[in-house]
Amino acid sequence: MNINIHLPLFTHAKPSPVQVVHTGADWNKYWLDSLKSNKTIGLVPTMGALHEGHLDLVRQAKSDTDIVVVSIFVNPTQFNNQEDFDNYPITIKEDLAKLEQEAADFVFIPKTETIYPEKPLLSINFGELETVLEGAFRPGHFNGVGLIVSKLFNCIKPHVAFFGQKDLQQTGIIRSLVNDLSFDIKLVIVPTRREEDGLAMSSRNVRLSAEERSQSLILFNSLTKAKEELLAGKSWFEVQDQIKCDFEETSLARLEYFELIHPEVFTSYSEFDMGQKSAICVAAYVGKTRLIDNLPIIP
Ligand code: PAF
Repeated sequence: MNINIHLPLFTHAKPSPVQVVHTGADWNKYWLDSLKSNKTIGLVPTMGALHEGHLDLVRQAKSDTDIVVVSIFVNPTQFNNQEDFDNYPITIKEDLAKLEQEAADFVFIPKTETIYPEKPLLSINFGELETVLEGAFRPGHFNGVGLIVSKLFNCIKPHVAFFGQKDLQQTGIIRSLVNDLSFDIKLVIVPTRREEDGLAMSSRNVRLSAEERSQSLILFNSLTKAKEELLAGKSWFEVQDQIKCDFEETSLARLEYFELIHPEVFTSYSEFDMGQKSAICVAAYVGKTRLIDNLPIIP
């Protein structure tokens, strides 16, 4: 009797090797090859300490482009708080293992002196966007984001770049960077990945103590509560007032802003209107960790 036993070829999916490059000159060799073979390049800019939210960006890039480059660089010029910079988690070994698992093709890990051989003289001002939300609470932050993203675009020369919707205002900044400086790059914005209880994934979440982690839920809970109440007809004034009280009653949380905004121009509304695009943005400290989140109301 002939018995055919079909054994799986692989019991475990074998991660493919990810190529690490440290300089633009190194990358140029691969870039030229990709040009010759007409391949599209997708860039996922990150500051490392990768979580599922980042990996969603990588997966999106894998499905939309031929060659996926993930950059890992904790960019000093975008930190307006030295303590935040000093404590930013760095987990390169784990990051590389995750990227291999996702079959990213290249990881660009430049040194600070490669990116900033000298203190940059250029400073980018995003006009009105600098004066609201993150712009108002983190002076200089968007200048730093604008600088590093321009440098990464010039260095990697991607066709498509992928950013997370969690940093909603940052996506607006990058849109104007692309338009104003005529970068020929398509932007893809990927929805926010959340923990099971709703907390938006962020590299900074690892800094929360158990008690802070449980109180950090106030960000997502207040967004969903406010959305429900607005859609049920409550005024924005009443909703915002109630949320401010909720924050005051949450001992470890300190609210910076809770605003109903236009999701493209980022100006605040004083009233909710079903007929206009809107989203709610929140920023708060929980203990010493600053968290942000947002929820589209009328996309
Ligand atoms: O969103 C981030 O992680 C950073 O702001 C970015 C876009 C990688 C620039 O440093």
